[in-house]
Amino acid sequence: MAPGINPEDVAEEQAHFQNVIAAFQQYAPYTLAGNNRRRKDLFALSRQDQALLEGLGYKEKLASVDDAILVNASFLAQIVANPEIFGHDVDEDAIEEVDVGMSSPGGETQARDLHSHAHNEPSHSHSHSHPHSHSHGAHPHPHPHEQKRGKYKPTDFDMDKVRSTLKQFVRDWSEKGREEREASYKPLKDALLEYFSDIPMEERHNFRVLVPGAGLGRLAYDVAKLGFSCQGNEFSHYMLLASFFILNRTDEINQHTIYPYVHSFSNLPNRTSMLQSVSIPDVLPSDIPPGSNFSLVAGDFEEIYGSQDEEDPSEPSSGPWDAILTCFFIDTAKNIVNYLRIIHKILAPGGVWINIGPLLWHFENNSSNDPSIELDLEEVKELARQIGFEIKNERTVDTTYVNNPDGLLGYVYHAAFWTATKKI
Ligand SMILES: C[S@@+](CC[C@H](N)C(=O)[O-])C[C@H]1O[C@@H](n2cnc3c(N)ncnc32)[C@H](O)[C@@H]1O
Repeated sequence: MAPGINPEDVAEEQAHFQNVIAAFQQYAPYTLAGNNRRRKDLFALSRQDQALLEGLGYKEKLASVDDAILVNASFLAQIVANPEIFGHDVDEDAIEEVDVGMSSPGGETQARDLHSHAHNEPSHSHSHSHPHSHSHGAHPHPHPHEQKRGKYKPTDFDMDKVRSTLKQFVRDWSEKGREEREASYKPLKDALLEYFSDIPMEERHNFRVLVPGAGLGRLAYDVAKLGFSCQGNEFSHYMLLASFFILNRTDEINQHTIYPYVHSFSNLPNRTSMLQSVSIPDVLPSDIPPGSNFSLVAGDFEEIYGSQDEEDPSEPSSGPWDAILTCFFIDTAKNIVNYLRIIHKILAPGGVWINIGPLLWHFENNSSNDPSIELDLEEVKELARQIGFEIKNERTVDTTYVNNPDGLLGYVYHAAFWTATKKI
């Protein structure tokens, strides 16, 4: 056990990790049961009404949804087929180094850190699985000992995370997600390229870019593909398992097929919009420039980068960052002051922080007694100035987040964009 690691925290995290695996594994029975409810409701109708609906092909539609769920389930099962790669053997070290890297065409496998500090996530996320509900509150974490009594039964919350993971794949790794993705990622990448416009492509690898809250890793991958050294950071086990799979276990473009829109029958113009398949990935994740340095670090942003020891250059996160890109991230803070202080502290002098996103405070009204500081946009920017940033290029970018573009409902975020340089 590494010094300073609390065994209870390790056991709790181990239990949480296993529950996430259980959620992936139990997606099929859970989701098929939901579809079966529709079947039961149909059979509860009068024969006449049933006949009318049968005439519309409603029963066949339910059967097609079952088939799509099974395809999703087989994809999700592949993601969690080898969970031991995450090194959750709590009897060993609490923090394990796991290679989640990719071999660059140069042949060198990049070392990846996978510090297992993944945490409970708030339920207030940018994805809107139901238009009328914003669920709040803590992720229910059974006590580690409860885990031993029997197989964990995933909650609606867990299953919502699994369904969101499928939609996140569309955002990050499909052709269908390109428009949404580029609305957010392109302004960030353009600003990065502009900031380092005097650096030739072959020297970009000397510049270190951090992407906290990296989700499924596409933005970090894109930045590495531009030639920069890039590290993504993420704490959700759902995201970490899924990004590991797509980054390291993909041999072909469009290798996998998923049906991300079969979980809700609401706001659909027609059957095709629900039963459309999406192929992933749209690019080969191993296709990064030779010698690129691309890594994903697992764990809580504040714990990893807030506690970094500047005196210890052997720590991978200890060096100063030349750029930090935050995409739909800063509002995940319980305490935005701390987030901004850390971003400021770990940037190199003259380094740039580029941000895009809304202010959907993830911990607002949480039921887990977590603190939550909720500022408006003006306050966030003033805070950033006081912490030592000079904010430039402020604008609003309209963009969606894991939206079904073919649905009858679409949320548009008027996301705030800026570049901020470290003054002091
Ligand atoms: C709204 S999502 C955005 C994901 C990605 N940047 C994108 O635009 O698709 C926020 C991400 O930040 C992650 N996250 C939230 N708080 C975090 C923390 N304290 N440390 C690391 N990751 C965190 C969440 O798990 C989630 O994947």
